[in-house]
Amino acid sequence: MNTHALQALLWNILQPLHRQGIHTLDMAPWHEEIRVTRGPTLLSVALQLVAPEKDMRAALKQAPAIEAHVASALGLPPGQRLPVRVVASGAYFIVEVPRLDPWRPSYGEIARQATEAVLLGLDTYSQPVAVDLTAEMPGMLVVGRSGSGKSNAMRLIAAQRLARGDELWLIDLKGGADWADFRHLAGGRWATTEDEGERLLGRLTETIKARNAGRAPKEPRLLLIVDEVANFDAQQQQSLARLVKEGRSALLRTIVGNQRCGKEMDRMIRANLTWRLVGLVADATESHLAAGSGAGADALQGCGDMLFVEDGRAARRLQVARADPIDLVSLLGTVNTPALPPTPATALAQIPRTIVDLCRVFEHEAERVGKGYEIPHPWVLARANEYAIRTGRAAPFDLIREWSRRRAGKALSKARMDDVRSWSLRIANVFRVVPGVPG
Ligand SMILES: Nc1ncnc2c1ncn2[C@@H]1O[C@H](COP(=O)(O)OP(=O)(O)OP(=O)(O)O)[C@@H](O)[C@H]1O
Ligand SMILES: [Mg+2]
Repeated sequence: MNTHALQALLWNILQPLHRQGIHTLDMAPWHEEIRVTRGPTLLSVALQLVAPEKDMRAALKQAPAIEAHVASALGLPPGQRLPVRVVASGAYFIVEVPRLDPWRPSYGEIARQATEAVLLGLDTYSQPVAVDLTAEMPGMLVVGRSGSGKSNAMRLIAAQRLARGDELWLIDLKGGADWADFRHLAGGRWATTEDEGERLLGRLTETIKARNAGRAPKEPRLLLIVDEVANFDAQQQQSLARLVKEGRSALLRTIVGNQRCGKEMDRMIRANLTWRLVGLVADATESHLAAGSGAGADALQGCGDMLFVEDGRAARRLQVARADPIDLVSLLGTVNTPALPPTPATALAQIPRTIVDLCRVFEHEAERVGKGYEIPHPWVLARANEYAIRTGRAAPFDLIREWSRRRAGKALSKARMDDVRSWSLRIANVFRVVPGVPG
């Protein structure tokens, strides 16, 4: 966004406030003091109110007016919504506006910023956000409507913890499709129905009891994932809640995902899992229950735009990294053999060895995700890959353009070329795959 557009945007944010007689210390949109920060998917504007005690509530009520102003300033067609979220932070009134050119980074694009903790994504300052599951905590609740990005986030966490040696216990009550590629990493410890899930909880409870009684060593760390917990009945949810609580000192960390955390979820699960990752939720009540009062999770964008609440502290907005198959494969490719099921050969067979295999993974992902996921032409990717392996550098634009012209009769778009370049380098660095012969 250029300076002119930014000023127009700020002007439109300030208008409804001025009209209500709400004054900010920085009245003019071109004032250099206004703090605008750019996150991957949104701009965040911090306005300091002159009289926050008097004006903050009225300012927060201007959210719909600000949203309408911003929509017309950006030239959106009538009826199209760009969800604006407003929050109070001390004397600051903060307005968060989605970017028209959001960047939803893949895990691989930001992985270098990861520390010991699990990397989740980037915050509104484009700073990395991580959660340390080795800390003294029982685990995390992941809440949000369908498509808010829960399973993606949980897969990202699971892959990173597996890579550090955790033992995975997996209960996917949504049928199993979202987690099919993790099953072999859970050994026999996975379930896709309520009955199987209940039996698995029973087994895990025994393990925890043995650990807590000193009958079994407290290693490795255990990670229990329960996706769509609402499919469990009340009793099953209660035993899960007990397990979460008792497992804490036995080094069990539990991640529970669900669309809602109100009525359909056991109170004790909510009470024990005070760390939260909250995506777009249905309404303000859900937002309150999931992320705390005034969190505004009902005004998020979906697609991994989430709030991270660390043990009841103030919510921090972030864009969760996309867990691309290539990232998962590179993370899970390092999982050591003892953690694999009895037949490591099957697990290894699932790691792509050639560009052709890799393209198949991409195609599978494109199908799963639907439109909008661009896959480079296998032939171009193969050339870029050969080049990267040979030279250790990404292929230059000119070459990629030439290859794609030769192959498809037209040049690739800039965004597409960036994809091919970054993939080819990542492939060369991570897999050393055999180029293969795509058709
Ligand atoms: N962090 C992200 N970056 C980019 N796109 C994302 C992200 N998270 C999710 N998406 C998109 O949203 C789709 C749905 O995500 P996901 O399956 O994680 O949602 P969900 O909350 O688990 O939904 P459901 O409740 O239906 O299971 C993904 O296939 C992907 O296209
Ligand atoms: Mg899901």
